Formats: sequence, C-alpha cells, structure tokens
Amino acid sequence: MTQPAYVVDEMISAKAIAARIEELCREIVKEFRDTDKLVVVGLLRGSFVFIADLVRELDLPVEVDFLEASSYGDGMESSREVRILKDLRGAIEGRDVLVVEDIVDTGYTLHHVEKLLRSRNPKRMRTIALLDKPVRREVDFKADWIGFEIPDEFVVGYGIDFAQRNRNLPFIGKVRFTQQG
Ligand code: IMP
Ligand code: MG
Repeated sequence: MTQPAYVVDEMISAKAIAARIEELCREIVKEFRDTDKLVVVGLLRGSFVFIADLVRELDLPVEVDFLEASSYGDGMESSREVRILKDLRGAIEGRDVLVVEDIVDTGYTLHHVEKLLRSRNPKRMRTIALLDKPVRREVDFKADWIGFEIPDEFVVGYGIDFAQRNRNLPFIGKVRFTQQG
C-alpha cells in the first residue's frame, strides 16, 4: 500500500509526558489506596508504552492484563463499530480495575469497552487515557483521568501509530502531510 509522505512535528515532549504521568499516578494511588490488587487493563496496541510507564510509577500491588478492540484499522477514521479481537485473560468480577487507553477520539471504543467490563461486575473501575480529543466526540464518554487534551490533529508516537508506523517515537507528534509519495 502506498503511503502519502508526511513528517511528524513534536507536540508533547517525552519529558512533559513523564511529568504528567507522575501527577496522574499520585491521583490513582489516592483513589485505589486500599486495594488488595489493582488489575491494570491496557487496550492494545496503542497503550503499550503508556501502560509500561504508568505501572512503574504506581506504588500499588498491580496485575497487568490486555484487551484488544478494533476501531481504526489502518486508516485515519474510526469505523464506529467496536469488536473485541482479544479478551482479557483474567476474570475481573469483584476486582479493582483501571482501564488504560491511548486516545479518546469519537469515544466509541472506551464507551463500548467500559460497558462490556462493567457487565462483569468489577468492584471498582476507573478509566484513564493519555490523550483526549473532545471536539471529536460522538458518544457521551468521559475518562476519569486524562493526560492531555489535544486539538483535532492526527497524532503518532509513544505507542500510537499511523498505519502501524511511528509507535516507537518517544514523544507525541502530529502528522503533517507534505506531498503524495
Ligand atoms: P475512538 O473509538 O474514536 O474513541 O477511537 C479511539 C482509538 O482510535 C484510539 O485507541 C486510537 O487507537 C485511535 N486513534 C484516535 N485518534 C488517533 C490519532 O490521532 N492517531 C492514531 N490513532 C488514533
Ligand atoms: Mg486504540
């Protein structure tokens, strides 16, 4: 598949992300202070860098599990139809759960995943997303914690891809098209 040529302009530095994660973790620890074990659920694949940094900053007993939901495919538009491609390995009934997502865009993905996981009767469930694009929202969904609100730009890096590329950038950058390649 041919890719249009683009460059990535830095939007949020690695340092700013790390500082924000420290702040968020202080709030998460406060919320789950009394937990026996927190099940941290990462939404694959975009959250893999975020969840890695997050759990290392969380001074709580944690377990890590993953769930994969489809929404974007390889394009830049949400399909609005959420399918579960890979479910959790463990049961979450009666457990404390933190769902970790990279970006809330239209809101379909987290809205659907939250409904699904709540139906399994966790004791307490919260959601966190590194990025939020509120102007893009199509369904009523609000994460409990957000790293950064961003404008309607297509971003990559820090785990987030454009057609599977750029996940390994250490910062968040916005995609700027140059010419048709
Ligand atoms: P939603 O269901 O529209 O909220 O979509 C959320 C998912 O779309 C995120 O988990 C991302 O995987 C993907 N997504 C949304 N915005 C971007 C972006 O700017 N770059 C890359 N992926 C994105
Ligand atoms: Mg995603």
